[in-house]
Amino acid sequence: MEKFIINGPTVLHGNVTIAGAKNVALKAIVTSLLTDDEIVLHNMPQIRDVHLMLDVVESLGAHVRIDGNTIYIKDGNTKGTIVPLEIGARLRTSSMVLGPMLSRYGNATIPNPGGCRIGARPIDRHIEGLKLMGATIEYDSKDGYFHAHAQHLHGAQISFLKNTHTGTETLMLAAVLADGTTILKNAAEEVEIDDLIALLNAMGANIRRSGNREITIVGVPKLHGTEYAIMSDRNEEVTFAIAALVTKGDITVHHSQRRHMKSFLEAFEKAGGVYKMIDDTTTQYFYDKPIQPVDIVTGSHPGFMTDWQAPWAILMTQAKGVSTIHETVFENRFTYVEELRKMGADIAYFNPVVNNPKSFYNFNWEDKATETHQAIRITGPTPLHNAITSMSDLRAGATVVLAAIIAQGQSYIYGVEQIDRGYEHIDERLQSLGASIERIEEDAVV
Ligand code: EPU
Repeated sequence: MEKFIINGPTVLHGNVTIAGAKNVALKAIVTSLLTDDEIVLHNMPQIRDVHLMLDVVESLGAHVRIDGNTIYIKDGNTKGTIVPLEIGARLRTSSMVLGPMLSRYGNATIPNPGGCRIGARPIDRHIEGLKLMGATIEYDSKDGYFHAHAQHLHGAQISFLKNTHTGTETLMLAAVLADGTTILKNAAEEVEIDDLIALLNAMGANIRRSGNREITIVGVPKLHGTEYAIMSDRNEEVTFAIAALVTKGDITVHHSQRRHMKSFLEAFEKAGGVYKMIDDTTTQYFYDKPIQPVDIVTGSHPGFMTDWQAPWAILMTQAKGVSTIHETVFENRFTYVEELRKMGADIAYFNPVVNNPKSFYNFNWEDKATETHQAIRITGPTPLHNAITSMSDLRAGATVVLAAIIAQGQSYIYGVEQIDRGYEHIDERLQSLGASIERIEEDAVV
């Protein structure tokens, strides 16, 4: 267990290269289970979730070799079709092996998925879709596993009631080798899904976006190995862009994905931030004038992503006036608020009036615990001070780290493994931009 010690405030300046997208990397690893050939994946981020996902495919028999940011995976399937609880329950995407295991071996046993605890996060939409493709799936609450079987997965027309990013991908991964054609309606539109489609097509799959929120997958008998460089991480870029503005600094990001960040860039400019397009994949983000309050409502792509609202909150603590964040995707994604309050932030919870919450919110309304709130109101600017804090999930982790960088004094931040799930060597990269951040073993004397 490790902690960060951060001395603030510091202004961040310099260059940073955005790492490969976590939310593609994890699924790219799963594609290796669809072929006996080797898959070579480039630009893979060196993050904890990637290692956890590699453990999942290794538990199923895959052979893995890592060389820096390149990962070689060859499916061996010598170990059967069960993902052990202690491996699968650490990571939500472990459930995505369901499709490949069912289409190739007819069986899959996976634990109830874990991962960042940002709500109930059920997989009912994935399961319903797989059932329409011919699978039988039972959840056994005594052993905590989903037990899935399918003689043959077949194509189906599946209409998602609500947006689901990994649900869309899970069904794509099941449909590529199924008999016949699958049409996914109301499919998610996140660009990370398009990167996964490009990878699967490079392996011989036949997948295309066939209409508004529609994906058509024509099943093929076999896929082959390939070599593929995954896209860079929009969430990381947003974090560094906010870091530049909130510290009144200037950060140039390389491997920029700004063309897929329209809703963020609009909000960034409204908040007073400036970005300059140096070239297609290089963007400079900097502070120019006092930060302005901007209200945010999160949504699925092309909206303002839920993953961006936690770092946005720290920016808004430095805006002059009142701003709000309304979270519509997850029912519990404000766990960072208490940590920011400890540092002096003025944040109040509230529940906006919504006409038909059951259809308005992306999560299943019945999963909502009454004590959670869907919105916060931030009053700024508030000078932040040091605190002893912890990270409850990945994006909350990034928020608390940024808060400590602008806060006066020395902060201790526990739970570093949360931020390590999705940000590659975040401490070293922040140091290179001028932050005073040190990683320490938790029980070490300092
Ligand atoms: N949901 C259900 N049932 C389902 C599927 C989803 O109730 O069967 C609910 C979820 O609990 C959530 C909402 O529907 O409230 C949307 O879930 P979605 O399936 O779209 O999200 P996800 O696939 O679980 C992925 C990313 C998240 C990102 C969201 C939204 C991965 C591994 N995770 O989650 O990333 O926030 O899409 O784009 O791709 C992160 O990187 O920090 C992160 C949490």
